[in-house]
Amino acid sequence: MPSRVAVINPTTLSFAAVLVMTAAIITASAAGGDFSDLHEVKVRGHLKKLNRPALKSIKSPDGDVIDCVPISQQPAFEHPLLKSHTIQMKPSFHPEDVYSGSKVSSNTTKQSKVILSQLWHVNGKCPENTVPIRRTRREDFIRANSIENYGKKNQKSIPKPKSYDPASVLTQNGHQHAIMYVEDGKFYGAKAKMNVWKPDVEMPNEFSLGQIWVLGGNFNSDLNSIEAGWQVSPQLYGDNNTRLFTYWTSDAYQGTGCYNLLCSGFVQINNEIAMGGSIAPLSNYGGSQYDITILIWKDQKEGNWWLQFGEKYVIGYWPGSLFSYLSESASMIEWGGEVVNSEDEGRHTRTQMGSGHFAEEGWAKASYFKNVQIVDGSNTLRDPDGLQVFTEQESCYNVKSGSGGSWGSFFYYGGPGRNPDCP
Ligand SMILES: *[C@@H]1O[C@H](CO)[C@@H](O)[C@H](O)[C@H]1NC(C)=O
Ligand SMILES: *[C@@H]1O[C@H](CO)[C@@H](O)[C@H](O)[C@H]1NC(C)=O
Repeated sequence: MPSRVAVINPTTLSFAAVLVMTAAIITASAAGGDFSDLHEVKVRGHLKKLNRPALKSIKSPDGDVIDCVPISQQPAFEHPLLKSHTIQMKPSFHPEDVYSGSKVSSNTTKQSKVILSQLWHVNGKCPENTVPIRRTRREDFIRANSIENYGKKNQKSIPKPKSYDPASVLTQNGHQHAIMYVEDGKFYGAKAKMNVWKPDVEMPNEFSLGQIWVLGGNFNSDLNSIEAGWQVSPQLYGDNNTRLFTYWTSDAYQGTGCYNLLCSGFVQINNEIAMGGSIAPLSNYGGSQYDITILIWKDQKEGNWWLQFGEKYVIGYWPGSLFSYLSESASMIEWGGEVVNSEDEGRHTRTQMGSGHFAEEGWAKASYFKNVQIVDGSNTLRDPDGLQVFTEQESCYNVKSGSGGSWGSFFYYGGPGRNPDCP
């Protein structure tokens, strides 16, 4: 391994340091100064850990800075399990032939276009053997409730169809979903095409997304999850742009995992796509539809879970050693939308899911997932058996499934959030 810059790791802060910090907060309110000094040290340490020295930096029109970081210096290798990891530059197995070019849909009645670009591409490219990393700024920590929680997801994020309790929806500070899923199997990957929108997000601490979940284990404290899709999250990114994202956890969102490259774990090999980068163009209500393809699959030889965006960008992988259950196979796959309903003033949020329109509006109006597939035990992509749909509150966001023709298994999903039937 090449040498890397020594950094302060906030997770190693001792209990004593926490006590000092608590004391500092108390004195800070009286005298000022002490707390902000300690806070400043923590902020600098964390920024240094996240923002690796770059060979080149590219300013994106959306205000992002994309750092081109040498591939061997990316955050992944700070992970204790990956200190002596050898980068795999290519999957040893792929469930389809990616290198043969894109497959064009033959259906002219519902023709969508493929999203080709991230916004920062207009201002440059990252050189070979570097990876593009969206730079984290000081303001990003200020928006997050704490430095330690920055880049982490709340544990209520997992759609949990089986134990769904209608009474709990309105009382918990809820995440709401409209999904298709398949469970109780052995899955080695998942794929789908999803059209991409810019849903309105009412409160800064809410988000709206469309994604695939690859889940291992049960819904206890050790749930393993690998996730990828698009999201609008003002708290995470400081704006309302639609961005490509990934997430992973190996303990049900408690201690491990993060979005994008905001913690060590995901190993990126691609120099063209930045995790967390804005994507364009987006679908218009009643107009052009743009979709992205996400494929997640397990390289059964090496044990790593790979991510592909579109038909040609193999982005990187989550090393199998990060996981417990997923080191073998996934037991459940979910596809669909999620929003946070923060229930400001006791009313349902107006945060939209997908296009902000209900599933029954269909093509060009509702959001969709099409060509929903899983990778089976023989490493083949195919239509899943036993697909089901789930949503917590149909009057706020809903889902309608179908199958056939060039769309294979598909569903429309989404909704406006607060409306006369969802007060
Ligand atoms: C994001 O959208 C919300 C709600 O539509 C709006 O109030 C807010 O100003 C927007 N934020 C930015 C940074 O554009
Ligand atoms: C195209 O989509 C329409 C509407 O869903 C469907 O009826 C038709 O069978 C599809 N055509 C092909 C070639 O898949």
